Amino acid sequence: MAGRNEDMRYLDLPTAKSWSAIGLGTWQFGSREWGYGGEYAEGPDSEAGRIVARALELGVTVFDTAEAYGFGRSERILGAALDRADADPATTVVATKIFPVLPVDQVVTQRGTASAARLRRRIDLYQVHQPNPIVGDGTTMAGMRTLQAAGVVDEVGVSNYSLDRWIGAETALGSQVISNQVQYSLVARDPDADLVPYARRAGRAILAYSPLAQGLLSGKFDAEHRPSNRVRSLNPLFLPESLRRATPLIETLRAVADAHDATPSQIALAWTIHHPVVVAIPGASSVAQLESNCAAADIVLTSDEYSALTSAAERFRPVSGFGALAGIARAQIGV
Ligand SMILES: NC(=O)c1ccc[n+]([C@@H]2O[C@H](COP(=O)([O-])OP(=O)(O)OC[C@H]3O[C@@H](n4cnc5c(N)ncnc54)[C@H](OP(=O)(O)O)[C@@H]3O)[C@@H](O)[C@H]2O)c1
Repeated sequence: MAGRNEDMRYLDLPTAKSWSAIGLGTWQFGSREWGYGGEYAEGPDSEAGRIVARALELGVTVFDTAEAYGFGRSERILGAALDRADADPATTVVATKIFPVLPVDQVVTQRGTASAARLRRRIDLYQVHQPNPIVGDGTTMAGMRTLQAAGVVDEVGVSNYSLDRWIGAETALGSQVISNQVQYSLVARDPDADLVPYARRAGRAILAYSPLAQGLLSGKFDAEHRPSNRVRSLNPLFLPESLRRATPLIETLRAVADAHDATPSQIALAWTIHHPVVVAIPGASSVAQLESNCAAADIVLTSDEYSALTSAAERFRPVSGFGALAGIARAQIGV
C-alpha cells in the first residue's frame, strides 16, 4: 500500500489508511507546560517541523494532536509542518480531539470544523478527549455523525474511556468507534485487563499515550537528575523516591536493551506495541528521539523478555496517595 515504509510496522484495521505502530504525539508542539520554547515549535526551520518531516520519511502515518494543546497552537503547527513536508493526504492519519466541556451536537460540529481549519485538512480521526460526566455520548455522537456526513471527519475515536463507555459510544454513533486513546506503558498497564483484549476481539485500536511514561522509561532520570518542566514536576513518577524505586525496572529495561543492541526507551516502546492493535504515540523533543522511537517498531520481544519486563513493572510501586501530593507540594515550594 502507498506510503508504507518497510522499516515501520502497520496495524491491520478496518480503516481506509494504514496506521503505523509508532505514531507521533504533538502535545509538546506549542504547549507552555513542556517548556520547549518558541524555537522548538514555530517557524519553517523549527525542530517540530523537522520532527514531522522525518517522521513521514520513516513511515509514521499517525499524528496525534488536540484542540487543548497550546489552545490550538499544536494543531496549527502540525498542519503547517505537514504542508511544508508535502505529506501525502492519501496515507497521513491526522488525529485530533475535542475537549468535551459541553459536547452537545452543535458544539461538536463547530469545534470539529474549527480544528479542521487549523489543521488545514480533513480530520482522519476525531476523538473525544475524555468522557464528560454529565453530557452523555448520544448528543456528542450525533455531532460526530454530522461531521462524518459533511466529510470533515473520517473515523471517530474516544480517549480515556472505560470499556463500557467505549462500547456505548459506538452504539450511539451507530458505526465503529475505531479507537480508544489511553495511558498505556510498562507503568500504566490497566488497559491489559479489558481494553486491549476488546480491541483484539473487535478489530479496534488502542492509541497508547505517555508510552515512555514522559521519559521515565528512558532511564535518563534519577533522584539526583529530575526533569524540571511543569508537566513532569506535577507527576508523582518523578518524585525522588519514585525514581529510586524505579531503579530495578530500569535495570531490567537495560538488560533487555543490551540483548537487542537497543535503548531502554526502544524496549519500553516495543513492550507497548507488543499487541498488534496498539499504536504508541510518543512525543519527541528532538529529531534524534523521533528516529530512535521509530526504530522500536521492528523490535520483537521474546515471551521471556516480555514476562521479565512485566514482572519488573509489577514490582515497581511509585509514591502515590497523600505521599505523592505532599512530595509534589514540597517540590513546588522548594523544601
Ligand atoms: N489523550 C490524553 O489524555 C493524552 C494525555 C497525555 C498525552 N497524550 C498524547 O500522547 C503523546 C505522548 O505522551 P506524553 O508526551 O505524555 O509522554 P511520552 O511520549 O511518554 O514522553 C514524551 C517525552 O519523553 C522524552 N522522550 C521522547 N523520546 C525519547 C527518547 N527516545 N529518549 C529519551 N527521552 C525521550 C521527551 O522529553 P525530554 O526530551 O524533555 O525528556 C518527550 O517530550 C502526547 O504528545 C499527546 O499527543 C494524550
